Amino acid sequence: MAKIIHFPQDFLWGSATSAYQVEGGIENSDWSRIFPAGLACDHYRLYEKDFDLLKELSQNAYRFSIEWSRIEPTEGRFNEKEIEHYRRVLKALRERGVKSMVTLHHFTLPLWLARRGGFANSQSVFYFSRFAEKMFKEYGEIVDFWVTLNEPLIYATVMAPLLKKKNGLGLPDLPAILLTIKNEISAHRKTHEVFHRLAKESKTAVYVGIAKNNAYFVPFNPKSFLDRLAVGLCRYFWNGYFLDRIKDRLDFIGLNYYFHHQIKFPFFLKQKKKLISDLGWEVFPEGIYHALLELKKYQLPIYITENGVADAEDKLREEFIEGHLSWIGRAIEEEVDVRGYFHWSLIDNFEWDKGFGPRFGLIEIDYETMERKIRPSAREYAKISRENKLVQ
Ligand code: FCB
Repeated sequence: MAKIIHFPQDFLWGSATSAYQVEGGIENSDWSRIFPAGLACDHYRLYEKDFDLLKELSQNAYRFSIEWSRIEPTEGRFNEKEIEHYRRVLKALRERGVKSMVTLHHFTLPLWLARRGGFANSQSVFYFSRFAEKMFKEYGEIVDFWVTLNEPLIYATVMAPLLKKKNGLGLPDLPAILLTIKNEISAHRKTHEVFHRLAKESKTAVYVGIAKNNAYFVPFNPKSFLDRLAVGLCRYFWNGYFLDRIKDRLDFIGLNYYFHHQIKFPFFLKQKKKLISDLGWEVFPEGIYHALLELKKYQLPIYITENGVADAEDKLREEFIEGHLSWIGRAIEEEVDVRGYFHWSLIDNFEWDKGFGPRFGLIEIDYETMERKIRPSAREYAKISRENKLVQ
């Protein structure tokens, strides 16, 4: 007999992107010279078309990021033309009845800040909150959800060190990583505080969260004390540490779920992979359930802010989405307060240091013609969104 999973009323069904990966024409960021994305998906120009497709796919929410280097190309000078651009983007979503989730930092920084050490410089807390405050003053009334930082730990441990080395700004070092994390925590806390103060003054509602990359860690040998200890440490440092430091300044938790790791003390173990994506990443839907249960203790609303698969031929995506949604449904049954799902990604895009190869989109992009083509799995996802239920 078919199993039916009903999702809560007002559940958000959406997809996510980030500015550098889709917009095109970003020239002043720390990524621009070393990993140029060129025109990317030309989303900067074609956003209305993309939102029409999003609507056609029955989605009611969209997560995207504002490119800081467009808004503040030189320190302290805000670019009005770009501010108007994102106002039009937000309005286009409103006109279509789509809820917006806006990320303020999704891996890219204006070059001027990168040259001053980026988030490793304690002044970044001031710079970031000044930029964030400006964004709130401009768009506070037309944004539904704010995400301060995307995957702060991936940023601090992988992206920032990679950029630093490639940009010739010095070698990655542990103190810089730790300072980055420290300043990210302060930047988030400050932004939450400022947004709530301003919202109170202007009597607007405000929801400020984070997009946190948590993984599902399991011991390679459940009987081994050391393997279990290693798992405990990973859970504490990778999944819990950052959230524990901001939990009193969070209106919701955004979960980016991609990974399941089996740990054999003291090393990470490569998976015995059953199903793998084009990037070699394991597909393990059950992990999202465990990652969600780990978040239950925070007693906060949770949105899945990212979950997706590199799958150019669209062979895995439908099963991937249904598998994850089914485990999310199980977590909801166990009273985890999940309120929405944003698939990564709406459209194929520029996958950071890996370039245009990996295809994460519900919609395929032809980079020659910029034509958009809806993948079959996207239609299946649309059916689930439309009916607010999953039939298995
Ligand atoms: C996440 C990033 C996102 C995208 C996906 C595949 O870690 O937040 O920008 O690259 O991975």
